[in-house]
Amino acid sequence: MLRCETTAEVRSAVAGWRAQGARVALVPTMGYLHAGHMALVERAGKLAERVVVSIFVNPTQFGDPDDLARYPRDEARDLAMLREAGVDAAFLPAPAEIYPDGDETIVETTRMANVLHGAVRPGHFRGVTTVVARLFNIVGPDVAVFGEKDYQQLQIIRRMVRDLHFPLEIEAVPTVREPDGLALSSRNVRLSAEDRAAATVLHRALERAESLARPGATVEALRGAIEAEMAREPRAILRGLDIAHPLTLEPLSGPLEGPAAIMLSAEFGGILLIDQKVVTP
Ligand code: PAF
Repeated sequence: MLRCETTAEVRSAVAGWRAQGARVALVPTMGYLHAGHMALVERAGKLAERVVVSIFVNPTQFGDPDDLARYPRDEARDLAMLREAGVDAAFLPAPAEIYPDGDETIVETTRMANVLHGAVRPGHFRGVTTVVARLFNIVGPDVAVFGEKDYQQLQIIRRMVRDLHFPLEIEAVPTVREPDGLALSSRNVRLSAEDRAAATVLHRALERAESLARPGATVEALRGAIEAEMAREPRAILRGLDIAHPLTLEPLSGPLEGPAAIMLSAEFGGILLIDQKVVTP
């Protein structure tokens, strides 16, 4: 596996593969890889002959400097996992490679970035689209793979790619879960044992909503059921519950007339976890 740190290195590897007629997939990550990331890598390997995984803890998507400082990192372990999975290149840029000195340019989806999770994390999605646009321009993949777990992020990236005419496809992979339903996340390792057990309430609340999503059911009824389920877990502090159109992320109300994306976030001992489900009546 190649280990690239600069734009020139990764571009030269990709150009070589392209010259041999290979398709190239990119899996952008912030490292501290788990089975959820490896599901993205596996899908990438089915879509393209060559797979590049970027590992970059993107400072511009963190509002709180402490959250950035505490973000878990384990480069040696990440690289061993990627090698084992048969990845062709790991791209580990330094911040100055992505954000050159005097950098001024941002990429932002003006509405979608500022609703739902974006309303409570100002600037977060602007940081995501800014880094992802740069990674796309640096690596130049044919396809890029993202998880459905970060549902709003996925839809924002799809919209950015469409609006800015990036010549690539976006592929989405369903959320990978622990046997008890907890969505895999790099943040899970920071939960206490009690909070880890409590966090399964997110999945239960979403499943409850799914079971109620029948023709004639209302968005308000789903919301009430989720709130009731969350309230049964005293360790959970509900931070966000949005039921929105699955592509535009416009808030929904009244009777369910088609698929709806439910985006849920809650804090457990100060750790913010998110989960999502698209339900169809
Ligand atoms: O989902 C993530 O890990 C990050 O938001 C991403 C897409 C790698 C951008 O930094």
